[in-house]
Amino acid sequence: MTEPRLVYKSGEFVPESEATVSIFDTALMYGDMVFEMTRSYNQAPYRLRDHLERLYAGIKILEIDCGLTIDEMEAATLDTIDINRDRMPEGIDYQIMHNVSGGPMALYSSVFPKGIKPTITINVWPLTWHIAPYGPKYESGIHCVVTAQQSVPARLIDPKIKNRSRIYYQMANILARKVDPDAYALLTDEDGYITEGTGNNFYIVKDGTIFTPEGRNILRGVTRAAVLDLSAELGIPCVEKNIEMYDVHTADEAFISSTSMFILPVTKFNDLPVGDGAVGPTVKRLISAFSGTVGVDIVAQAHEYAALANAD
Ligand SMILES: Cc1ncc(COP(=O)(O)O)c(C=O)c1O
Repeated sequence: MTEPRLVYKSGEFVPESEATVSIFDTALMYGDMVFEMTRSYNQAPYRLRDHLERLYAGIKILEIDCGLTIDEMEAATLDTIDINRDRMPEGIDYQIMHNVSGGPMALYSSVFPKGIKPTITINVWPLTWHIAPYGPKYESGIHCVVTAQQSVPARLIDPKIKNRSRIYYQMANILARKVDPDAYALLTDEDGYITEGTGNNFYIVKDGTIFTPEGRNILRGVTRAAVLDLSAELGIPCVEKNIEMYDVHTADEAFISSTSMFILPVTKFNDLPVGDGAVGPTVKRLISAFSGTVGVDIVAQAHEYAALANAD
């Protein structure tokens, strides 16, 4: 019997069931919690430092005094992975989740006789269930729909800070599911340009060039940076520019990216086929090259994890 997993919580390790956030925490009071989601390939964290740098940009801007330097956060992350290695299924990749807020507000300090600390959690979680649904989607592609819920402009709530005030992303998911229960929502900005998905970045391919929205009103994904790096390596031009819905309708291919999936092809957009409606050569090339880089066949892994999830 495997021991239950442990969560790093503000300096100590506690069981997952005790890794709670107080109702007096600024995370709930103001929604000013910042977070990260990193994943492993072959059980080694992928671009952990990039995720931590984005986390620390949010920490700086929100003036959260978390009490750990980025190096200490990295060390605490590696400790959390190590302590949980035997507590996770062998050979399975995992996610690493960071959550940081200022902790309970000083006004409520009498509730905490041992003193108030910033809230920092680091936890790991096997990726089996996250990745299981992706297998068929790498092959068929997904349906993306633009809903009435738009992105909040960066001047109001900056999406570049990966934060937990995510009600507008959730609203877009709710509206997308009304169109098609399997659809992924896409948001637009005030001018109608596509910004991002509710947990992913967006791209189209036209005449051999990849286009992705500028980094203005979006979360600048770590995977987005990986896609830009990989396309440069493969000699595929990649341009950041405003993308209108018309551009998607007239594109050859489209895809989304995020940490857990790397990329997923988008073969249907607002109920119309993208290109010829099949997964295109650029997406296939990126998936195959990325699988080579990380040493994991990501499509095979998704199928393998689906079989494991079904056996559970
Ligand atoms: C709104 C949003 N955009 C984009 C992304 C993709 O970011 P990353 O590639 O760092 O996972 C995410 C990831 O959670 C997200 O929540």
